[in-house]
Amino acid sequence: MNSPKDMQPTLTDTCGLSTARVPTRLYTDNAHYELERERIFRRAWLKIGRVEQLTKAGDYFVKDIAVVDASVLITRSKGGAIKAFYNVCSHRGNQVVLNTKGNASRFACRYHSWTYNNTGELVGVPDEASFFNLDKKQCGLTPIVVDTWEGWIFINLKPVPEVTLKEFLGPFGETFSGIEYPHADNALVMRGEFKANWKAVADAFSEAYHLPSIHPRTFAPVYAGKDNPHCRPLSAHIYGAHRSLSLWLNPDYQPPAEAKVERWLNPTASTVTGTRNEAQVNPLTEHAAVNPTKSANWSSDVNWIFPNWHLQISANRFWSHEFWPISANTTLWEGRFYQPAPKTVRERIQLEHFTAQMADGMLEDLANIESTQRGMASGAKSHLYLQDGEILLRHALEQVVRWTEAATVAEALA
Ligand code: FES
Repeated sequence: MNSPKDMQPTLTDTCGLSTARVPTRLYTDNAHYELERERIFRRAWLKIGRVEQLTKAGDYFVKDIAVVDASVLITRSKGGAIKAFYNVCSHRGNQVVLNTKGNASRFACRYHSWTYNNTGELVGVPDEASFFNLDKKQCGLTPIVVDTWEGWIFINLKPVPEVTLKEFLGPFGETFSGIEYPHADNALVMRGEFKANWKAVADAFSEAYHLPSIHPRTFAPVYAGKDNPHCRPLSAHIYGAHRSLSLWLNPDYQPPAEAKVERWLNPTASTVTGTRNEAQVNPLTEHAAVNPTKSANWSSDVNWIFPNWHLQISANRFWSHEFWPISANTTLWEGRFYQPAPKTVRERIQLEHFTAQMADGMLEDLANIESTQRGMASGAKSHLYLQDGEILLRHALEQVVRWTEAATVAEALA
């Protein structure tokens, strides 16, 4: 088999994408951002959580989504169904739940104590007799359409979504069904606010070309090596609005001699990817959609579900990134790294070491993303050049344009 170093750039052609330059204004134009808010974030299905966050009746969490000006309350009702509501009181519009998560059978608005149950019904109004023809049945929390796929919780902000979640996910949903996600109940969460457009933040997690430059000590030694110095990907696939990239693993990677803690903690594996140097077989690696070329030199896959969710998978671990726009040039990034809860001192130290390594890598990205946005905002460059390994960025921008121009979701997905 050819090594990635010898391969010609063909992924973009094979996937049927344009190889032209891409316009910078997609990252900087306020009018385009307003279109994205309406035509993407108010029409697409948005991933907001996992079912493990709602294991018991009464469990809830709150997600504030600035791009659509909404605070969303997601609960598991007494009957076991997952429900989503606007977190807005019917009395005078106050936010009802201020905690980010918990377990409750009732939610009381602190302003005047109107109270709702966890199926959204208004069940308590102090001094109800002083209101005028108040029909409590009409004053429940406003529902939001919610559905799940493979344990992931999605909402759609249209009162009647134009397409079902199954239709939205299309071939991606079918190809990636049946994956067993290890330790899905235990996420290490990292958050950061970036002064950059949401797509610029997502881009930084969507290609490996930048690793030797930006992450020479943290990530590059794992993803680049003598047979693949520029981190060329193993494969790429397009699934309707969604996309996937499979990344190479340096088979010669060893923690450097001075990294005594890393060597002691992970003598045969990369801490970053959790991928062992020797063959590793488990339910994750056996799934046909994971490491689709079944390369022995595979590190991880980047799956980018439109519009703003990354689901990344390596040999014994998965993690996700969400990119939530706050404004045209501000983004909330949320990373969730799913890990076993440590049971021993060694496992505890492994987790701390992993956390520190990821934090170092994220800080390297943070500074770079903001300077990229400043450069694009200057107006000096009307277009950007993308190479073959940056195929996910290219497809993402194509889809953003497609969705902002399409009159209907069906047209965007056609
Ligand atoms: Fe909620 Fe008055 S605004 S009880």
